[in-house]
Amino acid sequence: MGGRFDGKVVWITGASSGIGEALVRAFSAEGARVVLSARRESELRRVASSCSGPQDNLYVLPLDLDQADHFPSLARLVEKRFGRIDILLNNGGIGQRGSVVETLMEVDRRIMETNYFGTIALTKAVLPAMIARRSGSIVVISSLMGYLDTPLRSAYAASKHALQGYFDCLRAEIAGDNIDVVMVCPGFVRTEISRHALTPTGRKHAQMDRAQERGLSAEKCAARTLDAIAARRREVLIGGLEVLAVPLKRFLPGLYATIVRRVRR
Ligand SMILES: NC(=O)c1ccc[n+]([C@@H]2O[C@H](COP(=O)([O-])OP(=O)(O)OC[C@H]3O[C@@H](n4cnc5c(N)ncnc54)[C@H](OP(=O)(O)O)[C@@H]3O)[C@@H](O)[C@H]2O)c1
Repeated sequence: MGGRFDGKVVWITGASSGIGEALVRAFSAEGARVVLSARRESELRRVASSCSGPQDNLYVLPLDLDQADHFPSLARLVEKRFGRIDILLNNGGIGQRGSVVETLMEVDRRIMETNYFGTIALTKAVLPAMIARRSGSIVVISSLMGYLDTPLRSAYAASKHALQGYFDCLRAEIAGDNIDVVMVCPGFVRTEISRHALTPTGRKHAQMDRAQERGLSAEKCAARTLDAIAARRREVLIGGLEVLAVPLKRFLPGLYATIVRRVRR
């Protein structure tokens, strides 16, 4: 037992499924004290009971990213239980499958609310204590879609582009405070994201898409995320060949635009 994160307090959103679930198990195995947050309490309890670390080191704390008013009091509960927050892992989020023309504005807003506003609001609830202690890490599970564009992902890409800009600014702003801001940009990871993704009317897409099915395991994505945090990286791109799309778009944007218009799911 024990490891690079021995005794560290790590607050993980989206801990009930996918990448967040794998992150909980990975941090627990490395000796961290882990706060598990998402909306579905029963799933959080399932994830907690699957961990190899001591159960006393796990704290199930339900949270809805769309309910930012509750974040300051939830942060106080974490501090009461574990004394401080060393790492905030902003992972919770929702995907999209729908065209610009068909997608209702309320769905566009909901995706921004969860992925962007929820994430920045929780960060604001945690950051002042980190600055006062001159120690901590803010980690964001963004996406390659923080850099890229494909059809049918307009609001999702917008939310992830927004996170990239916001947290790059934050990193510069707190450069003298000894706090790391780590942007994690996965490509395709085998999780429930396509099943949970919102259709144009806000229903669940409810299908496992092929790209996700063939993607990296959530465990590998989590392991590389822990490595990036331990190495104090500013950013890490995680995935298979799809990662090459980022330099392709940057250096050959015309070719990228021709390829990407063929994506239909
Ligand atoms: N899988 C991929 O290919 C991929 C690629 C790039 C980036 N990502 C990013 O990775 C992160 C995790 O996604 P995943 O792939 O693990 O998908 P997932 O299996 O669908 O997990 C999403 C998690 O977010 C939580 N969540 C959703 N809406 C929430 C809300 N309003 N409040 C609180 N929690 C909420 C869900 O929990 P509840 O439903 O219990 O609330 C769930 O735990 C997301 O930010 C996603 O954008 C995924």
